[in-house]
Amino acid sequence: MRKDKEMKSDVKVSESMFRQIFDNMRQAFALHEIITDAGGKTIGFRLLGTNKTFEEVTGLNKSAVIDKTLDEIRISADRKDFVDFYERLLLKEEMVNKRIHYEPSGKYFNISLFFPLEGQIALLADDITDLVKREEEEKLMEKQIQHRQKMESVGELAAGIAHEINTPIQYVGDNLSFLKDSFADMMNLCRTAVKLHQSDRDGNDIRYDLARIGELTEAVDMEFLMEEVPQAIEQSTDGVKKVTKIVAAMRTFSHSGVAEDQTDIDINDAIDSTLTISRGRYKYVAEVQKDFGDIPLVAGYASDLNQAFLNLIVNAADAIREKGETKTGIITIRTANDQDHVVIEISDTGTGIPEEVQPKIFDPFFTTKGIGAGTGQGLSISYNMIVKKHNGSLTFKTERGRGSTFIIRLPI
Ligand SMILES: Nc1ncnc2c1ncn2[C@@H]1O[C@H](COP(=O)(O)OP(=O)(O)OP(=O)(O)O)[C@@H](O)[C@H]1O
Ligand SMILES: [Mg+2]
Repeated sequence: MRKDKEMKSDVKVSESMFRQIFDNMRQAFALHEIITDAGGKTIGFRLLGTNKTFEEVTGLNKSAVIDKTLDEIRISADRKDFVDFYERLLLKEEMVNKRIHYEPSGKYFNISLFFPLEGQIALLADDITDLVKREEEEKLMEKQIQHRQKMESVGELAAGIAHEINTPIQYVGDNLSFLKDSFADMMNLCRTAVKLHQSDRDGNDIRYDLARIGELTEAVDMEFLMEEVPQAIEQSTDGVKKVTKIVAAMRTFSHSGVAEDQTDIDINDAIDSTLTISRGRYKYVAEVQKDFGDIPLVAGYASDLNQAFLNLIVNAADAIREKGETKTGIITIRTANDQDHVVIEISDTGTGIPEEVQPKIFDPFFTTKGIGAGTGQGLSISYNMIVKKHNGSLTFKTERGRGSTFIIRLPI
């Protein structure tokens, strides 16, 4: 049988041990008695115990709060707003395990409540301000990286786009100067015809004008003009349409994406736009085959999806170029409807992805391309855009030496 005294000292040891643990916890801890009215309804709380972190976080000294009700603390410590906030935490269980922001101090807490004994409630508050700040910084940085990549790819594509615009603009220009000359010739002929009509009306001799019309018709080669002018007009209209298309594609691309709203996107159109502005990146190495299905609209952020398509198309072209075959490679883009998803497959006949590289390709800054050729951001950004921002999935199949297929699934 152990003596009473020994047992008491044991209790003391364990008490001081718990006290130490409590005081050194990073969480603020407070135990309260629940004060109820005669009908059992909670009408207040009395503080029974707190730890050191509680004092640090709340600025409420232990000696000033122990055995006091929240109402008493509210009045005595001139902490009305804080105590109101604190009382809400104790009353509202829906706040538990959620991020709580206490604005006056700018701090974030994770709150847990539990009931150690009948009539008591304990509160644990974990200060997660640093974690939240870090997450916010990371989010901001991610956004900046994505924005930069978007701007970089527009920059890289600029030369190709300029070239794409230059070709139609050039023939529109040539056609316009041809039309100008032809118009002058035809005007000459028209003027003589008008004169002929006037002479005839006035009863004058029309033989000279008639002969002149015959001469002019031959000189300006009317037959040739009648054939060529409509064609020149048609071609020019066509050229302007091409330029308009490129400009429209660039516009969807250069959206910053920061404050962009979700819209209903025609994925086939979006891919077409992306192909239009990236033509300069693939046309020398690959032919693009489109196999577009009849797919529903997808709610999403157009410029982000375009960016993801662009990254995959550029990778496909790079893989074909790296394979270094003389014959043109093929990039196949398929779209299809699969129950509640739209599926987009981008296949290439390039190098394929070696097995040892496969687990790393989605890592930010992982690249097998030389300095200046790749920054290793394309796939990690595409992954973010598709998986995180659109709840989709991005996977791939690959065979060494034969090519790869990247598969995007987007929920409808
Ligand atoms: N279609 C593909 N075929 C073969 N390898 C690929 C393909 N797509 C990606 N890879 C591999 O994955 C790596 C990472 O691709 P990612 O697009 O993230 O970066 P990158 O193309 O190297 O650089 P960036 O896209 O920033 O210009 C590439 O370096 C390449 O090794
Ligand atoms: Mg890439």
